[in-house]
Amino acid sequence: MPKQIILPARTISGSLEVPGDKSISHRYAMLASLAEGPSEITHFSAAADCRSTLDCFTQLGVKIDIQGDTVRISGLGLDGLRRPRRTLEAGNSGTTMRLLAGILSGQEFRSTLEGDASLRQRPMRRVMDPLTQMGARIHAREGGFAPLKIDGTRLSPIEYTLPVPSAQVKSAILLAGLFTDGVTSVTEPTRTRDHTELALAEFGARLDQEGRTIRIHGHPRLKGRTLAVPGDLSSAVFFIAAAMILPGSNLVIHNVGLNPTRSAVLDVLGSMGAPVSLVSIRGDRGELVGDVSVHHESLKGGLIEGNAIAQLIDELPAIAVLGPYTEQGIEIRNAAELRIKESDRIAVLAENLRRMGAQVEELPDGLRVAGRSAGRLHGAEIEPHGDHRMAMAFAVAALGAEGETVIRDAECAAVSYPEFFTTLERLVER
Ligand code: S3P
Repeated sequence: MPKQIILPARTISGSLEVPGDKSISHRYAMLASLAEGPSEITHFSAAADCRSTLDCFTQLGVKIDIQGDTVRISGLGLDGLRRPRRTLEAGNSGTTMRLLAGILSGQEFRSTLEGDASLRQRPMRRVMDPLTQMGARIHAREGGFAPLKIDGTRLSPIEYTLPVPSAQVKSAILLAGLFTDGVTSVTEPTRTRDHTELALAEFGARLDQEGRTIRIHGHPRLKGRTLAVPGDLSSAVFFIAAAMILPGSNLVIHNVGLNPTRSAVLDVLGSMGAPVSLVSIRGDRGELVGDVSVHHESLKGGLIEGNAIAQLIDELPAIAVLGPYTEQGIEIRNAAELRIKESDRIAVLAENLRRMGAQVEELPDGLRVAGRSAGRLHGAEIEPHGDHRMAMAFAVAALGAEGETVIRDAECAAVSYPEFFTTLERLVER
């Protein structure tokens, strides 16, 4: 699928389930590998990123059986991983590389973590600094970039305050903390997704939380579990955005993860006038799950900034492309982190929105996208720069535009959602 053509649509309606949450799938796979005994994980993410995590653990000697979206993992225990014969390939996945760096730092062997062209440009110092303070020996390419060569060693606990809010860095430290003889603590400036904390507790680790500080006790006995991964809200948001673009739309998305550290996007959309309702909310092993129902309403737009940004960082592309469909337009600030994601998302959003005729102002830490009065979007050739969320965001934007849109290299959507275009086509009416 080198390119994908998106034609304008009238409405989007019906019901769907999205693949299992990518962040949670990574964590369940990692902890199941470090636990004693078998784990069974259902509704495991279909994302290429999570496959990278599974492949790395296979290289580390873990027996993993994948059948559809059920993954069975025979955990080796905290000290059971084996020296990999080959370089561990994290592909496009920052979560795989940063979290694994924490685990590999505490092993008795040497390993190398490599990434694709995009991941090789993403900063690794943010994990290398705290891990080095714990005693890790990590050698990176000049400037702190992958590949990372890690000489595993005995780690010591630290007390660390994150300089930037990052769930990946927090998680790398907590996972490294498993291999120490004491209590490791991480303090975050603003709360970020807490899937690692919830999953660690679920697998039997000892963890305390006090305000924004999380403490993990070293050398727990982790036990294999049977777990179901909730649907990925970050994927569901593309369909919610489509419903906000197309009048008359009505969607129900079943079994979506509604963890409060992830659901800020629903509050923001709600404050812009999106009628999102949550039904049958239930707890599932620490994670909240529910059905999301939404119908079209014309959005006001507005400003998104401050602490909220860290909690909806992955949803900002879907929100940004809604700008031209809102009354006042959308402004995003304090989001410089977007520039160091799978692509420079601020630049790529601005470039492609302009290609579709939107009025955009690119800012160092965000962007301003003018609302409806600046004119209707038109079809264009979209360059997602290999970034899955860009391909999906512009496919959604194209549904309300005039004329045909071509998404180049659309197969990059498989990094998080291989079935995205098929599901979108099933739900839209023309
Ligand atoms: C993730 C954390 C976030 C997010 C990424 C997944 C995770 O990254 O953008 O898609 O699974 O922990 P940062 O930790 O860099 O903010």
